[in-house]
Amino acid sequence: MGRAAGQRRRRWFACCFSSSYPYSHRSANDRRYRDTYHPVPLYVNLNQIGKGAVGVIYSATDVTTSRKIAIKEMEVNNDPDQRQMLFNEMDIMSRCHHPNIVEFIGAYFKKNNNDPGPASKLWVVMELMDGGCLADILGHHGQLYLTEKLISRIIYSTCDAVAHLHSLNFIHRDMKSDNILLNQYGDVKIADFGFSAQLTENRSQRNTVIGTPYWMAPEIINGEEYGFKVDVWSIGIILMELAEGEPPYMNEPPLRALFLISTEGIPKLRNEEEWSPLLSQFLYSCLLLDVETRPSPEELLMHPFCKNIGSQECIQELIAEHRQIKQAEADELASLLNLDF
Ligand SMILES: Nc1ncnc2c1ncn2[C@@H]1O[C@H](COP(=O)(O)OP(=O)(O)O)[C@@H](O)[C@H]1O
Ligand SMILES: [Mg+2]
Repeated sequence: MGRAAGQRRRRWFACCFSSSYPYSHRSANDRRYRDTYHPVPLYVNLNQIGKGAVGVIYSATDVTTSRKIAIKEMEVNNDPDQRQMLFNEMDIMSRCHHPNIVEFIGAYFKKNNNDPGPASKLWVVMELMDGGCLADILGHHGQLYLTEKLISRIIYSTCDAVAHLHSLNFIHRDMKSDNILLNQYGDVKIADFGFSAQLTENRSQRNTVIGTPYWMAPEIINGEEYGFKVDVWSIGIILMELAEGEPPYMNEPPLRALFLISTEGIPKLRNEEEWSPLLSQFLYSCLLLDVETRPSPEELLMHPFCKNIGSQECIQELIAEHRQIKQAEADELASLLNLDF
């Protein structure tokens, strides 16, 4: 059974089962982001809008342009692996210019003026996606009606972004609804490149067990060599989230879910008859165990399921509907507490 109406989803963070995080992208180094000045005068009206595994996300206003932006604030410590992971994320984001990838604006070490020590925080400044993340919307799945056209628009945009990423030889490795962001214009964009990696001619496969359990492809779980197609598997799981509100095995603890994915496979859609054969065909092709047969994102874009996608307006309507639900919840809570918001 899905969640009861209004019940919040548990958020699972990505993890890496390796003693040392493998970095493919050593060209990104401290030199590029060495401007160590306090960026506060550049950005004002900070307001926390999210929290991830590695930091806090704020919305803010750029004082020079008055543009609303987002800041991801991350703790920086002396661990070279951690620093490299942060640079890896920024470097990939700054190279990916695509309408369905969150725009990177800049990065700063945050250092208090009077503090003699090294900077302890890093600010990654990016475009603000004011519709929030898809996971939050799916937290109210039972109260929202997601049409197949709307679902196909989200999936199409995601495939387009991932196809671009792959064309630059990057694998995302943490595709899930938490990392798909929406904005008031009805754009759908992918974010969070913390676990991304680059494949090269010398290293065309990877083997680190990395990602968020419920969205992980079997070849990653089984410790096999893997490539770009792991992102396609995760797109399939995102499609299941859109159809059912959550990924398969979400009620199981993460390790048990990993076990079930690799031994039992992914169960069929609960109410398959409610969906078109095109949606099911698309879904099951993403979840093909045979990596060779599993389509690439470009091939998915050509699939008939991606030919009749909803308009940007339907995403805008979804965001508006979600806001109304959240507002109603806040009002209800306020009346229970007898407080005015
Ligand atoms: N540019 C943005 N605009 C709006 N919200 C964002 C933005 N970036 C991240 N968020 C919110 O913050 C959450 C965590 O951000 P993310 O970059 O995924 O961090 P982590 O690496 O810790 O998972 C996202 O799921 C989303 O809700
Ligand atoms: Mg994330």
